[in-house]
Order: sequence, then C-alpha cells, then structure tokens
Amino acid sequence: MRMSAIIGHRGAAHIAPENTLSGIKAAYQSGLDWVELDVILMGDGSLIMHHDRTLSRCTNGKGEVLSKSIGYLDGIDAGVLFRDSHGDRFFGEPIPTLLQALDLVHALGMGLNLEIKMHQHEVGDLVLPVLSVLDGHPLSRQGRVLISSFNHQVLLLCKQQRPDIPLGQLFGMMPKNWLSLTKEVNAVTVHVNQSWLTEAKVKTVLEQGYELYCYTVNDGKRAKNLLDWGVSGVFTDDPAAIKCML
Ligand code: G3P
Ligand code: MG
Repeated sequence: MRMSAIIGHRGAAHIAPENTLSGIKAAYQSGLDWVELDVILMGDGSLIMHHDRTLSRCTNGKGEVLSKSIGYLDGIDAGVLFRDSHGDRFFGEPIPTLLQALDLVHALGMGLNLEIKMHQHEVGDLVLPVLSVLDGHPLSRQGRVLISSFNHQVLLLCKQQRPDIPLGQLFGMMPKNWLSLTKEVNAVTVHVNQSWLTEAKVKTVLEQGYELYCYTVNDGKRAKNLLDWGVSGVFTDDPAAIKCML
C-alpha cells in the first residue's frame, strides 16, 4: 500500500489547527504514519500550507493569500479556531512553509500526501516551485511524498516534469471519464469524497488496479465499512474516532 489505512486530514484538523506543524505532530502522536496537507501560493511566490483562498476562516489574518507576501504572516495566528476549546495551547501557531512541513514530516518518519490547491494563478507558478522544493528533499527521495490535486492541469504538469513522483487523482464525485483522466496523468491512486461511495463504486475503481482513498471520514463505523469494501485508506480529522473502531 502506498499510504496507510488512516491518514490525518490537514494534519489532524479536529485535534490541532489544520495544515500546521502542531497538526502534523498531533497526527504523529495519534499513531498515524501519513498526513494530508494542502499547499498554496502567495503573491511573492512563497509556498505555504493552507487550505483556503483567504486567511479569514482559520487565522487572525484577512484577505486573499495571493495578495500577500510571506512577511505578512509574521504574527499571524493559525490557532484561533482552537482558542475556545484549548485555551492558549495553540496560541500563535504559525502558518508553515512547504519546506518546514516537509522537514517535520521527514523528521517524524512519516509520509505526506501533498495536495496542490490551485487558486487564481497560472498552474506553473505553483507547480514548478513545489517540484523544485521537493527536488532533492529526503522525504521525496525516499518515496514518501504523493502529490494529489483536483486540478487536472496540475497533475499533467507534475507528470511531465517529475514522472518519478507518484500522483493521486483527486475527485469530489468521480466523473464518467474518471478512468481516462486518471490514466492520462498516470496516477497510482484515486481519491474521492466518501459521501458518494458505495460498495459497487469501490469495486469499479479497484478492478482497474488503483488504490482508492477517501475523505473525510470522521465516523468510525463508516470507516470500517469503507475499509471492509476494500478502500485502501481514509482521510480523517479525528484519528482516535477511527482507530477505536478498527
Ligand atoms: O485530499 C483530500 C481532501 O483534503 C480534499 O478536500 O477540501 O479537504 O482539501 P479538501
Ligand atoms: Mg486537502
């Protein structure tokens, strides 16, 4: 199996701020070997771990990430969503760069599903710098990075530039032409929204020889069903809720 049966989603987003170094550590401390994280582009070309187009949902910052430079992140707190539940525990949690996230995942001996999130910019402006950071990084050299994206052009460019890095074809619902899209980018895994999956759909993907991963599964019973059907792994915000059912 390329990844593991339980993968921390955005780190482990229910127990630590998403897409942060604390999130990676929380996944590790929960006994996980793999995490999924989102990488996006800033206006000055910096690569940071963040899910949204803007900073407002998860941080005390405001505005479009694409309109900011890395210096704007000084003093930005990505722990704000945890203030009520966790007090000062994540106070001042920084938004990490891609390199900081890779270094920590590597230091912990984990693997990374790096989801490349496109916003409103050229594909190459994000993909080429991401590949260049991965180039020569020990995590990538050791085959412990799998890139995924909802954006087909992103995957095509990855395949063209770095055919050695494994790719995951990421869908919400699988479109009718899922197989041709997946073959076109030479993906080794297929990732889909779990809410849409049935046993028959799982079988369709497995019959084509792909590993199938699904997001986001925070219910232990649902995770057990999916894994019993042959799903290779589930992305979860809440590792303990899944582990106790398996
Ligand atoms: O990569 C799986 C999952 O993270 C995709 O959805 O919106 O959580 O990035 P999202
Ligand atoms: Mg993601």
